[in-house]
Amino acid sequence: SQLKTIIQGIPKAELHLHLEGSFEPELMFEIAKRNNIVLPYDSIESVKAAYKFNNLQEFLDIYYAGAQVLLYEQDFFDLTWAYLTKVHSENVVHVEVFFDPQTHTERGVAFDIVINGIHRALEKAKTDLNISYKLIMSYLRHLSEEAAFETLKASLPFKDIIDGIGLDSSEMGNPPSKFKEVFKASAKQGYKLVAHAGEEGPADYIWEALDILKVVRIDHGNRCLTDGALVKRLVDEKIALTLCPTSNVALKVIQKMNEHPVAKMLEKGIIATIHSDDPAYFGGYMNENYYQTAKALNLSLGQIQQLAINAFEASWMSTAEKENRI
Ligand code: ADE
Ligand code: ZN
Repeated sequence: SQLKTIIQGIPKAELHLHLEGSFEPELMFEIAKRNNIVLPYDSIESVKAAYKFNNLQEFLDIYYAGAQVLLYEQDFFDLTWAYLTKVHSENVVHVEVFFDPQTHTERGVAFDIVINGIHRALEKAKTDLNISYKLIMSYLRHLSEEAAFETLKASLPFKDIIDGIGLDSSEMGNPPSKFKEVFKASAKQGYKLVAHAGEEGPADYIWEALDILKVVRIDHGNRCLTDGALVKRLVDEKIALTLCPTSNVALKVIQKMNEHPVAKMLEKGIIATIHSDDPAYFGGYMNENYYQTAKALNLSLGQIQQLAINAFEASWMSTAEKENRI
Protein backbone atom coordinates (compact mmCIF):
# COMPACT_ATOMS: atom_id res chain seq x y z
CA SER A 1 0.00 0.00 0.00
CA GLN A 2 0.92 3.64 -0.36
CA LEU A 3 1.10 4.10 3.42
CA LYS A 4 3.61 1.24 3.70
CA THR A 5 5.76 2.76 0.96
CA ILE A 6 5.77 6.12 2.73
CA ILE A 7 6.76 4.55 6.05
CA GLN A 8 9.51 2.50 4.41
CA GLY A 9 10.88 5.68 2.85
CA ILE A 10 11.26 7.58 6.13
CA PRO A 11 14.67 7.20 7.84
CA LYS A 12 13.90 6.03 11.36
CA ALA A 13 15.51 5.74 14.78
CA GLU A 14 14.63 2.93 17.19
CA LEU A 15 15.01 3.87 20.87
CA HIS A 16 13.06 1.09 22.61
CA LEU A 17 14.17 -2.40 21.65
CA HIS A 18 15.20 -5.28 23.90
CA LEU A 19 17.73 -7.40 22.05
CA GLU A 20 16.47 -10.50 23.85
CA GLY A 21 13.00 -9.58 22.53
CA SER A 22 14.24 -9.72 18.94
CA PHE A 23 15.04 -13.45 19.28
CA GLU A 24 13.10 -15.08 16.43
CA PRO A 25 12.02 -18.73 16.92
CA GLU A 26 13.99 -19.81 13.82
CA LEU A 27 17.27 -18.54 15.32
CA MET A 28 16.27 -19.86 18.76
CA PHE A 29 15.96 -23.38 17.33
CA GLU A 30 19.26 -23.06 15.45
CA ILE A 31 21.18 -21.93 18.54
CA ALA A 32 19.45 -24.49 20.80
CA LYS A 33 20.54 -27.22 18.43
CA ARG A 34 24.19 -26.21 18.24
CA ASN A 35 24.29 -25.73 22.05
CA ASN A 36 22.64 -29.12 22.66
CA ILE A 37 19.68 -27.63 24.48
CA VAL A 38 16.24 -29.20 24.13
CA LEU A 39 13.49 -26.58 23.84
CA PRO A 40 10.08 -27.35 25.39
CA TYR A 41 8.57 -26.97 21.89
CA ASP A 42 8.64 -29.43 19.00
CA SER A 43 8.44 -26.91 16.17
CA ILE A 44 8.69 -23.25 15.23
CA GLU A 45 4.90 -23.23 14.79
CA SER A 46 4.33 -24.48 18.34
CA VAL A 47 6.65 -21.75 19.68
CA LYS A 48 4.67 -19.11 17.85
CA ALA A 49 1.42 -20.62 19.10
CA ALA A 50 2.65 -20.10 22.68
CA TYR A 51 3.01 -16.35 22.10
CA LYS A 52 -0.39 -15.36 23.46
CA PHE A 53 -0.27 -13.11 26.48
CA ASN A 54 -2.81 -11.62 28.87
CA ASN A 55 -0.38 -9.27 30.59
CA LEU A 56 3.30 -8.27 30.91
CA GLN A 57 4.22 -11.10 33.30
CA GLU A 58 2.94 -13.86 31.00
CA PHE A 59 5.18 -12.47 28.28
CA LEU A 60 8.20 -12.06 30.56
CA ASP A 61 8.05 -15.71 31.66
CA ILE A 62 8.36 -16.87 28.04
CA TYR A 63 10.90 -14.17 27.10
CA TYR A 64 13.26 -15.21 29.92
CA ALA A 65 12.81 -18.90 29.01
CA GLY A 66 13.75 -18.21 25.38
CA ALA A 67 16.94 -16.41 26.41
CA GLN A 68 18.19 -19.53 28.21
CA VAL A 69 19.64 -20.97 25.00
CA LEU A 70 22.08 -18.03 24.67
CA LEU A 71 25.40 -19.25 26.02
CA TYR A 72 28.35 -18.10 23.92
CA GLU A 73 29.63 -14.83 22.50
CA GLN A 74 28.66 -16.00 19.01
CA ASP A 75 25.06 -16.50 20.18
CA PHE A 76 24.83 -12.88 21.34
CA PHE A 77 26.47 -11.74 18.12
CA ASP A 78 23.99 -13.72 15.99
CA LEU A 79 21.01 -12.39 17.98
CA THR A 80 22.13 -8.78 17.60
CA TRP A 81 23.20 -9.10 13.97
CA ALA A 82 19.86 -10.65 12.96
CA TYR A 83 18.05 -7.66 14.49
CA LEU A 84 20.32 -5.13 12.82
CA THR A 85 20.05 -6.61 9.32
CA LYS A 86 16.27 -6.78 9.74
CA VAL A 87 15.87 -3.12 10.69
CA HIS A 88 18.40 -2.06 8.08
CA SER A 89 15.96 -3.43 5.49
CA GLU A 90 13.30 -1.15 7.05
CA ASN A 91 15.37 2.03 6.70
CA VAL A 92 16.23 2.28 10.41
CA VAL A 93 19.47 4.27 10.52
CA HIS A 94 20.02 4.71 14.27
CA VAL A 95 19.31 2.37 17.19
CA GLU A 96 19.53 2.68 20.98
CA VAL A 97 19.07 -0.89 22.17
CA PHE A 98 18.58 -2.51 25.57
CA PHE A 99 20.14 -5.67 26.88
CA ASP A 100 19.37 -7.39 30.20
CA PRO A 101 22.71 -8.63 31.60
CA GLN A 102 21.09 -10.23 34.65
CA THR A 103 19.02 -12.59 32.48
CA HIS A 104 22.35 -14.14 31.53
CA THR A 105 24.66 -13.60 34.51
CA GLU A 106 22.02 -15.15 36.83
CA ARG A 107 22.43 -18.46 34.95
CA GLY A 108 26.22 -18.33 34.86
CA VAL A 109 26.94 -16.63 31.53
CA ALA A 110 29.65 -14.04 32.16
CA PHE A 111 29.00 -10.33 31.56
CA ASP A 112 31.87 -10.06 29.07
CA ILE A 113 30.50 -12.90 26.89
CA VAL A 114 27.18 -11.10 26.59
CA ILE A 115 28.48 -7.62 25.91
CA ASN A 116 31.32 -8.63 23.62
CA GLY A 117 28.95 -10.50 21.28
CA ILE A 118 26.47 -7.62 21.23
CA HIS A 119 29.15 -4.99 20.75
CA ARG A 120 30.83 -6.83 17.88
CA ALA A 121 27.53 -6.95 15.98
CA LEU A 122 26.82 -3.25 16.64
CA GLU A 123 30.27 -2.30 15.36
CA LYS A 124 29.82 -4.43 12.25
CA ALA A 125 26.47 -2.73 11.59
CA LYS A 126 28.14 0.66 11.91
CA THR A 127 30.73 -0.29 9.30
CA ASP A 128 28.71 -2.49 6.94
CA LEU A 129 25.19 -1.05 7.26
CA ASN A 130 25.85 2.57 8.27
CA ILE A 131 23.66 2.13 11.36
CA SER A 132 24.75 4.30 14.30
CA TYR A 133 24.02 3.05 17.79
CA LYS A 134 23.96 3.51 21.55
CA LEU A 135 23.83 0.63 24.02
CA ILE A 136 21.64 0.64 27.15
CA MET A 137 22.07 -1.81 30.02
CA SER A 138 18.81 -2.51 31.88
CA TYR A 139 18.43 -3.54 35.48
CA LEU A 140 15.71 -6.14 36.11
CA ARG A 141 13.28 -4.52 38.54
CA HIS A 142 11.92 -7.83 39.90
CA LEU A 143 15.40 -8.42 41.37
CA SER A 144 16.90 -6.47 44.27
CA GLU A 145 18.69 -3.13 44.19
CA GLU A 146 21.72 -4.98 45.52
CA ALA A 147 21.70 -7.23 42.44
CA ALA A 148 21.53 -4.10 40.27
CA PHE A 149 24.57 -2.72 42.13
CA GLU A 150 26.48 -5.92 41.27
CA THR A 151 25.53 -5.45 37.63
CA LEU A 152 26.69 -1.84 37.73
CA LYS A 153 30.03 -3.02 39.09
CA ALA A 154 30.35 -5.72 36.41
CA SER A 155 29.69 -3.10 33.72
CA LEU A 156 32.50 -0.74 34.71
CA PRO A 157 35.25 -2.36 32.56
CA PHE A 158 32.88 -1.77 29.60
CA LYS A 159 31.89 1.79 30.53
CA ASP A 160 33.14 3.15 27.22
CA ILE A 161 30.73 1.04 25.17
CA ILE A 162 27.66 1.43 27.41
CA ASP A 163 25.82 4.71 27.01
CA GLY A 164 22.98 4.39 29.42
CA ILE A 165 21.00 2.52 32.05
CA GLY A 166 17.41 1.31 31.78
CA LEU A 167 14.93 -0.35 34.12
CA ASP A 168 12.65 -3.12 32.86
CA SER A 169 10.79 -6.36 33.73
CA SER A 170 7.77 -6.67 36.08
CA GLU A 171 6.52 -3.16 36.77
CA MET A 172 3.66 -3.65 39.24
CA GLY A 173 4.99 -3.78 42.80
CA ASN A 174 8.49 -2.74 41.69
CA PRO A 175 8.34 1.07 41.63
CA PRO A 176 11.23 3.18 40.37
CA SER A 177 11.97 4.32 43.95
CA LYS A 178 13.27 0.78 44.69
CA PHE A 179 16.32 1.67 42.52
CA LYS A 180 17.02 5.20 43.76
CA GLU A 181 20.56 4.58 45.02
CA VAL A 182 21.78 2.45 42.12
CA PHE A 183 20.51 5.00 39.59
CA LYS A 184 22.32 7.73 41.51
CA ALA A 185 25.51 5.66 41.47
CA SER A 186 25.04 4.90 37.77
CA ALA A 187 24.73 8.62 36.95
CA LYS A 188 27.99 9.21 38.84
CA GLN A 189 29.67 6.79 36.45
CA GLY A 190 28.53 8.93 33.53
CA TYR A 191 25.66 6.74 32.34
CA LYS A 192 22.53 8.37 30.94
CA LEU A 193 19.30 7.18 32.55
CA VAL A 194 15.93 5.92 31.29
CA ALA A 195 13.26 3.68 32.85
CA HIS A 196 10.15 1.78 31.85
CA ALA A 197 7.27 3.49 33.65
CA GLY A 198 3.53 3.73 33.22
CA GLU A 199 3.26 0.68 30.96
CA GLU A 200 1.05 -1.35 33.32
CA GLY A 201 1.91 0.78 36.34
CA PRO A 202 0.27 4.08 37.34
CA ALA A 203 1.20 7.68 36.44
CA ASP A 204 2.82 7.86 39.92
CA TYR A 205 5.58 5.58 38.66
CA ILE A 206 6.33 8.09 35.88
CA TRP A 207 6.68 10.85 38.50
CA GLU A 208 9.03 8.62 40.49
CA ALA A 209 11.14 7.87 37.42
CA LEU A 210 11.51 11.62 36.82
CA ASP A 211 11.86 12.89 40.40
CA ILE A 212 13.67 10.02 42.11
CA LEU A 213 15.64 8.31 39.33
CA LYS A 214 16.16 11.50 37.26
CA VAL A 215 15.66 9.80 33.91
CA VAL A 216 15.90 11.73 30.63
CA ARG A 217 13.30 9.64 28.74
CA ILE A 218 10.37 7.45 29.78
CA ASP A 219 9.94 4.04 28.15
CA HIS A 220 6.22 3.55 27.44
CA GLY A 221 4.58 6.16 29.70
CA ASN A 222 1.13 5.28 28.33
CA ARG A 223 -0.56 6.10 31.60
CA CYS A 224 0.57 9.77 31.72
CA LEU A 225 -2.68 11.01 30.15
CA THR A 226 -4.55 10.32 33.40
CA ASP A 227 -2.54 13.14 35.06
CA GLY A 228 -2.71 16.67 33.63
CA ALA A 229 0.15 18.01 35.76
CA LEU A 230 2.36 15.17 34.53
CA VAL A 231 1.52 15.90 30.89
CA LYS A 232 2.53 19.53 31.49
CA ARG A 233 5.80 18.42 33.05
CA LEU A 234 6.62 16.13 30.09
CA VAL A 235 5.87 18.91 27.62
CA ASP A 236 7.69 21.68 29.53
CA GLU A 237 10.81 19.58 30.12
CA LYS A 238 10.74 17.92 26.70
CA ILE A 239 10.77 14.43 28.22
CA ALA A 240 10.19 11.99 25.35
CA LEU A 241 8.04 8.86 25.63
CA THR A 242 9.21 5.77 23.73
CA LEU A 243 5.90 4.09 22.88
CA CYS A 244 5.49 0.55 21.58
CA PRO A 245 2.03 0.13 20.02
CA THR A 246 2.07 -3.55 18.93
CA SER A 247 3.55 -4.44 22.33
CA ASN A 248 0.72 -2.58 24.06
CA VAL A 249 -1.90 -4.56 22.15
CA ALA A 250 -0.09 -7.91 22.60
CA LEU A 251 0.21 -7.36 26.37
CA LYS A 252 -3.28 -5.91 26.71
CA VAL A 253 -2.03 -2.56 27.98
CA ILE A 254 -4.68 -1.37 25.51
CA GLN A 255 -7.49 -3.49 24.12
CA LYS A 256 -7.33 -2.30 20.51
CA MET A 257 -4.92 -0.27 18.40
CA ASN A 258 -7.48 2.46 17.79
CA GLU A 259 -7.37 3.16 21.55
CA HIS A 260 -3.64 3.91 21.47
CA PRO A 261 -2.84 7.22 23.24
CA VAL A 262 -0.10 8.35 20.81
CA ALA A 263 -2.33 10.68 18.76
CA LYS A 264 -3.58 12.46 21.90
CA MET A 265 -0.01 12.73 23.13
CA LEU A 266 1.09 14.43 19.91
CA GLU A 267 -1.86 16.83 20.17
CA LYS A 268 -0.77 17.78 23.68
CA GLY A 269 2.77 18.49 22.50
CA ILE A 270 4.46 15.48 24.11
CA ILE A 271 7.57 14.21 22.29
CA ALA A 272 5.99 10.85 21.48
CA THR A 273 8.00 8.27 19.54
CA ILE A 274 7.25 4.78 18.17
CA HIS A 275 9.29 1.58 18.58
CA SER A 276 8.97 -2.19 18.56
CA ASP A 277 9.95 -3.33 22.14
CA ASP A 278 10.14 -7.12 21.56
CA PRO A 279 9.32 -7.66 17.88
CA ALA A 280 9.95 -11.42 17.77
CA TYR A 281 7.23 -11.87 20.40
CA PHE A 282 4.76 -9.20 19.34
CA GLY A 283 4.88 -9.67 15.58
CA GLY A 284 6.06 -6.33 14.30
CA TYR A 285 9.31 -4.48 13.72
CA MET A 286 9.50 -0.71 13.25
CA ASN A 287 7.58 -0.34 10.00
CA GLU A 288 4.74 -2.54 11.20
CA ASN A 289 4.45 -0.44 14.38
CA TYR A 290 4.27 2.78 12.35
CA TYR A 291 1.84 1.21 9.89
CA GLN A 292 -0.61 -0.27 12.38
CA THR A 293 -0.64 2.93 14.43
CA ALA A 294 -1.07 5.23 11.44
CA LYS A 295 -3.85 3.08 10.04
CA ALA A 296 -5.80 2.58 13.27
CA LEU A 297 -5.55 6.23 14.34
CA ASN A 298 -5.79 7.71 10.86
CA LEU A 299 -2.58 9.70 11.37
CA SER A 300 -1.73 12.36 8.82
CA LEU A 301 1.52 12.28 6.87
CA GLY A 302 2.66 15.20 9.02
CA GLN A 303 2.00 13.24 12.20
CA ILE A 304 3.87 10.21 10.89
CA GLN A 305 6.84 12.38 10.00
CA GLN A 306 6.64 14.08 13.40
CA LEU A 307 6.92 10.70 15.14
CA ALA A 308 10.08 9.90 13.18
CA ILE A 309 11.61 13.35 13.79
CA ASN A 310 10.77 13.08 17.50
CA ALA A 311 12.84 9.88 17.78
CA PHE A 312 15.92 11.60 16.36
CA GLU A 313 15.32 14.57 18.64
CA ALA A 314 14.99 12.29 21.69
CA SER A 315 18.03 10.19 20.74
CA TRP A 316 21.42 10.53 22.38
CA MET A 317 23.20 11.51 19.19
CA SER A 318 25.09 14.81 19.23
CA THR A 319 23.66 17.66 17.15
CA ALA A 320 26.28 17.00 14.47
CA GLU A 321 25.45 13.28 14.40
CA LYS A 322 21.73 14.07 14.08
CA GLU A 323 22.29 16.30 11.07
CA ASN A 324 24.21 13.47 9.47
CA ARG A 325 21.42 10.97 10.01
CA ILE A 326 18.17 12.64 9.01
N1 ADE B 1 11.40 -6.46 29.03
C1 ADE B 1 11.25 -6.68 27.72
N2 ADE B 1 10.16 -6.07 27.26
C2 ADE B 1 9.60 -5.43 28.31
C3 ADE B 1 8.46 -4.62 28.49
N3 ADE B 1 7.63 -4.33 27.48
N4 ADE B 1 8.19 -4.15 29.71
C4 ADE B 1 8.98 -4.44 30.74
N5 ADE B 1 10.07 -5.19 30.63
C5 ADE B 1 10.38 -5.69 29.43
ZN1 ZN C 1 10.41 -2.40 26.80
